[in-house]
Amino acid sequence: MDVPQRKTLLLLVAAGLLVAALTLVSRSTRPPGLPPDAVHRNLTRNGYCAPCHGAGADAPLRDRHPPKDDCLRCHPVAG
Ligand code: HEC
Ligand code: HEC
Repeated sequence: MDVPQRKTLLLLVAAGLLVAALTLVSRSTRPPGLPPDAVHRNLTRNGYCAPCHGAGADAPLRDRHPPKDDCLRCHPVAG
């Protein structure tokens, strides 16, 4: 194999790794659905979330949580 071909192969491998990495990243930032437990099943208003998920509450959101205005738009109620 001469040198130009080896460079092409390296480029293809690098591109493949990049695609794989981006796929992983985008998966990990998909919003988790509401857990189908008793607490979350009947929640229909965003205002219900804060007592448990607000800052300083039992299950606070992580710092890197995306914009928080409309919880149920991104976390739909489980069926
Ligand atoms: C009575 C307290 C309470 C209320 C009210 C509540 N939650 Fe939760 N929620 C919890 C607890 C506790 C967990 C489990 C936390 C954990 O596993 O780290 C949880 C888990 C979650 C998860 C799953 C997190 C994950 O990593 O999978 C989501 C999403 C969520 N809640 C969203 C909401 C939204 C949106 C609302 C309002 C509509 C809400 N919760 C109202 C207590 C509550
Ligand atoms: C713009 C979409 C969006 C909105 C609006 C939103 N979330 Fe999230 N939420 C996400 C994403 C995406 C994740 C996963 C974050 C991650 O994995 O880093 C997440 C994660 C969570 C978790 C798991 C713990 C954590 O902090 O990662 C909980 C609990 C949660 N959200 C509750 C809420 C509540 C309560 C609200 C309203 C106050 C809300 N979310 C509004 C997109 C959203």
